[in-house]
Amino acid sequence: MELFVAKTAGFCFGVAKAIKQTNDLISKETGKIYTLGPIIHNEQVVNDLKGKGVSPVENIDVINEPGNVIIRTHGVIPEIYDDLKKKGLNIVDVTCPDVKKIHLLVKEKYSQGYKVIIVGDKKHPEVEGINGWCSNEATIIDSVEDVEGLGQINQKICIVAQTTLTREKWIKINEALDMKYKEIERYETICNATSKRQIEAEEISKKVDIMIVIGGKISSNTQKLFEICKKYCNETYKIETSGDLPSVNIKNKKIGVTAGASTPDWIIKEVIEKMNELDKQENELSFKDAFESSLVTLRTGEIVKGKIIGFNNAEVFVDMGFKSDGIISVEEFTDDPDFNPYESLKVGDEIEVFVVRVNDGEGSVQLSKKKVEAMKVWDKIDEAYENKTPIKVKVIEVTKGGVIASANGVRVFIPASQIGDRFVKDLNEYLKQVIFVRIIELNKSKRKIVGSQRVILQEERSRKVGDVWETIEKGKKYSGIVKSFTDFGAFVDIGGVDGLIHMSEISWKKIKHPSEVLKINDEIEVIILDFDKDKKRISLGFRKKEDNPWVNAAEKYKAGDIINGKVVRLFPFGAFVELEEGIDGLVHISQISNSRIGKPGDVLVVGQGVEAKITEINTETKKISLSIKDVNPIEPVSKNSEGTENTEELPTEYKEDMPNTIGDITNSISEEKE
Ligand code: F3S
Repeated sequence: MELFVAKTAGFCFGVAKAIKQTNDLISKETGKIYTLGPIIHNEQVVNDLKGKGVSPVENIDVINEPGNVIIRTHGVIPEIYDDLKKKGLNIVDVTCPDVKKIHLLVKEKYSQGYKVIIVGDKKHPEVEGINGWCSNEATIIDSVEDVEGLGQINQKICIVAQTTLTREKWIKINEALDMKYKEIERYETICNATSKRQIEAEEISKKVDIMIVIGGKISSNTQKLFEICKKYCNETYKIETSGDLPSVNIKNKKIGVTAGASTPDWIIKEVIEKMNELDKQENELSFKDAFESSLVTLRTGEIVKGKIIGFNNAEVFVDMGFKSDGIISVEEFTDDPDFNPYESLKVGDEIEVFVVRVNDGEGSVQLSKKKVEAMKVWDKIDEAYENKTPIKVKVIEVTKGGVIASANGVRVFIPASQIGDRFVKDLNEYLKQVIFVRIIELNKSKRKIVGSQRVILQEERSRKVGDVWETIEKGKKYSGIVKSFTDFGAFVDIGGVDGLIHMSEISWKKIKHPSEVLKINDEIEVIILDFDKDKKRISLGFRKKEDNPWVNAAEKYKAGDIINGKVVRLFPFGAFVELEEGIDGLVHISQISNSRIGKPGDVLVVGQGVEAKITEINTETKKISLSIKDVNPIEPVSKNSEGTENTEELPTEYKEDMPNTIGDITNSISEEKE
């Protein structure tokens, strides 16, 4: 005898979860427990639960005392929830997540005006439940003949499947629908666990002489398994317990065994043991051994690989090739408070999991992904501590003395003094930020890890400073940040090193304070004018050559031109008139009026607009001599006491000896001073 036992035989994850939740409830002893209909289609399990005080009821009217009502995996119509709430009963909803998804889908489509068609058995509680979520207005079909009997449908059509439907039937019915209707939105809601089980049953039944299908008499998915197997293996038997085994000769035969989603492992084992008794051949492989060896063995504390087969907001279900699927609660999946399984997970994704508890009795395996990450992270943290390498963390909490960051689930404390390279006023600004830290303290036994971002920032800074001094040269351009102002200029950070832009290098026009042109924290481009590596001093230039108004002055202004200007400064010997920003010319006192005036302030005021003739221009020395008198002499009407003379120092360019009229100006300055 050769035995082939389906790996997918027995509880699916939805049923395993439902039984687990029921047993959890029993252990809490929170009062009477009812199930709306038998919890699963398996008499033995239902009887076992009855013995523990769980009573199946057909409707809630018979419940007349407080208690808990379990809504089974098939789900129910929405009104049932309302009725249970009205009666003050505690609802324990173990509707399979896959069924729940169909409820929400048909509800949405129905509200959008779609005609909902359900492919499945109209008397099955799951189908009745689904229909309730579209106001019991779905059309339910179960065969190609049913499609033929359908009339005209003038709405868009949305079609869903009972979770236990065979894929073959789904395809055939859809082909028939395609012949009749155009706009069909198809949602193949056949449960993944069901289709896996059916595919495996088909494969086994094709190669065996006898096929045994174990499951409840009224279990729809067991019936479908039977139908599939019967198609490929004539000698297929559907049994509920070992007592139903047919008395057929199994010697030297290939025998396949599968079981429906509601069949507990202990019934499968019993069947196999009974068959072993029937098989008297000494050297024959026992059914029991074969059953056990066909399964992946799991031990608590192991790390194994598995595939995600489903999830909801609270749990992730994983197939590890073990006889039962594993469950990871979201708390054991990740520490991320923003984790959204619908955005982050995909059915079919392979993950590594830690086996927390193997529970043969209920068929559920408790897993943790966080523990795997934590074990790996601890290794990485150990290594990073030894090698002083930075690790990436996400700040998840602000505490009194610092912040807590998560390194893939492992908590790292960062004291406030170690978070930045400057004082941080509000640590909340780091919340949810991803940063790199160096582990500066590690105590594995106390699970204490202390990290520092500060040391990394400081090292980066001194590396940058070193780079600046290494590569600095006159004329090199840098992008810098304006850090502070003084009366003589602005300090700019050019990568960890501060340089000074002298006032005269900020702008071509005359300014009194750097803030007239720059703002603190401005990012600006500067050029190195000079530097002293020993004294660590850098002179920077900001104003640009091309912005120098004197560059084009020779083309714009010629001797003899009449200009319109503005009086900007008054001296005893004359007045400075601005031709444009950055270009001033001097009107000597003798060039203001035809009459003798005591001082320019007698006839001019700062800000006054004047017309003047350029009598001489020297763009090299940046000097322009002007005459108001030659254009429009200003005669003193009365003593103008409002004219204010400038107390500033004379501009440098006018202090030098100058030929012709400009020489005269210098003499006048001396005369005035005497
Ligand atoms: Fe759910 Fe599929 Fe089982 S729909 S209850 S996991 S058969």
